[in-house]
Amino acid sequence: ARDPVRVLVTGAAGQIGYAIVPMVARGVMLGPDQPVILHMLDIEPAAEALKGVKMELIDAAFPLLKGVLATTDVVEACTGVNIAVMVGGFPRKEGMERKDVMSKNVSIYKAQASALEKHAAADCKVLVVANPANTNALILKEFAPSIPEKNITCLTRLDHNRALGQISERVNVQVSDVKNVIIWGNHSSTQYPDVNHATVNTSSGEKPVRELVADDKWLNGDFITTVQQRGAAIIKARKLSSALSAASSACDHIRDWVLGTPKGTWVSMGVYSDGSYGIQSGLIYSFPVTCEGGKWSIVQGEFSLFREIL
Ligand code: NAI
Repeated sequence: ARDPVRVLVTGAAGQIGYAIVPMVARGVMLGPDQPVILHMLDIEPAAEALKGVKMELIDAAFPLLKGVLATTDVVEACTGVNIAVMVGGFPRKEGMERKDVMSKNVSIYKAQASALEKHAAADCKVLVVANPANTNALILKEFAPSIPEKNITCLTRLDHNRALGQISERVNVQVSDVKNVIIWGNHSSTQYPDVNHATVNTSSGEKPVRELVADDKWLNGDFITTVQQRGAAIIKARKLSSALSAASSACDHIRDWVLGTPKGTWVSMGVYSDGSYGIQSGLIYSFPVTCEGGKWSIVQGEFSLFREIL
């Protein structure tokens, strides 16, 4: 039998936490043959709720779940973890300035970065979900200099999946037949969802999305704003921010990173820039990537169109 993988979820008593922990325990993140031990971190005011989540995880009797740790101690939470999904953080509230949120998150991410640096498994892969995700990932990278830069990423897969969903609805095909959209930039409304290289698998082979949709006005207009503003649309409808889709996309992100992307398919990940596409080195930026052997690499040289957009 395989050794269990230890998966940390911070902010585990929150909405996304509640959606993601059963996914991890069912093998959605690491595969149906991979046992897992969940480490759940939250803060003192949520300690009771966190205990309740642990009780439910036990009650669900997941065969792959070999242990559950629920704690408010950052060091205990980070010890020995192989995967860290950072969902906890301080959200921007009404009336707060961006810089106020930033300084709160700097202190949170500083403490979590040094705990990960000192106590996580040496090859720990980190995914930052908490907003502002790119910035929080950058803070984490700055305060955990001994964690390889390649191991610190942020979530833009939700935006990527939203783009796939919009195309599949529009062309009326299965979402699994659409691939190779790209989210460039941030997980925020300034991201650029790019369909210029996206394709749809049809009965007569792979066809470019631009050819099948054949409506540049929609592709260059409503499609982009719908993806960019989807988070706000969900808050309006649900009075809560997206949670199940964020959790599911976070599982997709880690699964593809660890187990690899299918041949001929790339996905979007927020990763540190090596200067590709003229993006300043060291920034955390969303690129098209392929993954193999537990490593991501930025897809190179296929996107002359993107230069035209810039
Ligand atoms: P939530 O408010 O329901 O849960 C957040 C949890 O984090 C709470 O239980 C809170 O107690 C905990 N927390 C706060 N500070 C903490 C700390 N220092 N250490 C550990 N836990 C801490 O929020 P929700 O809906 O689960 O969203 C979580 C984050 O994910 C938010 O920042 C949200 O903006 C972000 N998000 C990112 C998306 C993406 O695509 N990158 C998509 C959707 C949400």
